[in-house]
Amino acid sequence: KRPAGAPDAKLARPVTKVGVVGAGMMAGQFALLFARQLKVPVVMTDIDAARVDKGVGYVHGEVDKLLAKGRLSQDAANRTKALVTGSVSKEAFADADFVIEAVFEELNVKKAVFAEVEAIVSPECILATNTSSLSVTAMAADLQHPERLVGFHFFNPVAVMPLLEIVRAPKTDDAALATAFATAKALRKTAVLVKDAAAFVVNRVLLRLMAEVSAAFDEGTDAHVADNALRPMGLPMTPFTLLAMVGIPVAQHVTESLHAAFGERFHVSANQQALIDAGIKGLWETAPDGSVSIPASTLALLS
Ligand code: 3HC
Repeated sequence: KRPAGAPDAKLARPVTKVGVVGAGMMAGQFALLFARQLKVPVVMTDIDAARVDKGVGYVHGEVDKLLAKGRLSQDAANRTKALVTGSVSKEAFADADFVIEAVFEELNVKKAVFAEVEAIVSPECILATNTSSLSVTAMAADLQHPERLVGFHFFNPVAVMPLLEIVRAPKTDDAALATAFATAKALRKTAVLVKDAAAFVVNRVLLRLMAEVSAAFDEGTDAHVADNALRPMGLPMTPFTLLAMVGIPVAQHVTESLHAAFGERFHVSANQQALIDAGIKGLWETAPDGSVSIPASTLALLS
């Protein structure tokens, strides 16, 4: 059955090579998924060789874990590893037909990336953004071929979360959108078409929950209480665990976009900012006996 809002699948273009801009954690997760499910070459780029090597190394390490779990055969593991390569130059995207970015959540950074990519790829190459909260319409504004830009928003952890939000900007054409839906299907994700609005749908709901927990914490509720209060509601992860997995700076950017769009409904947490400023990646520390607490050095930063 065709997903709501998806164009005729016959309009989809083949995807025979994928480019991933950025070699961080999210990018590595896409690269692995594209290589495993589409079985096409995937090239990752980043600003220096160390980052590229780390990204490719992450993918190879995940393949080894799947092999050890018996989820991949030795042949499939070798093939998947061989499909994922890295480069410091976006020239490696010259023959790609689908390029997705997973760079810093800042409009100008993403626009600069796409301007650079557009100078290299063919006019038919799909450009996809994994933005969590920025306007895809604004990202398309200065493109030479805005009709090929789509929002393609994955959720953490990419390997297991089934949903993908696809965003159509006003100039996105049916071929680009059909290719996005066909690619999502090949990746075995459930794709939904969402409006190009601040944080789309899922993060708008999820961040409202996170923002309220953070507000309770900022207002003095004990962190354990604030974090665990929702467990009985069936949440698979406590909000602060989720925050650490998504990355506190990413979550803060999404909240800021939502705050700009909807005001006080989205509380921008002072404590969260303090953690970001100190480069702290998560609130909790797990002791060898399995107990979880906030380290004293982190507590000292919080208001
Ligand atoms: N990478 C790959 N696989 C992973 C993984 C990871 N990081 N984490 C868990 N898995 C796999 C496990 O290997 C396991 O697979 P297996 O059954 O084949 O061994 C399976 O997922 C289940 O894992 P566990 O049994 O260890 O743990 P759980 O049952 O608790 O499930 C979870 C883990 C699916 C991550 C669950 O905790 C969950 O759904 N958490 C909430 C995630 C969420 O809300 N994500 C959205 C974040 S918002 C976002 O990303 C948007 C961005 O724009 C900010």
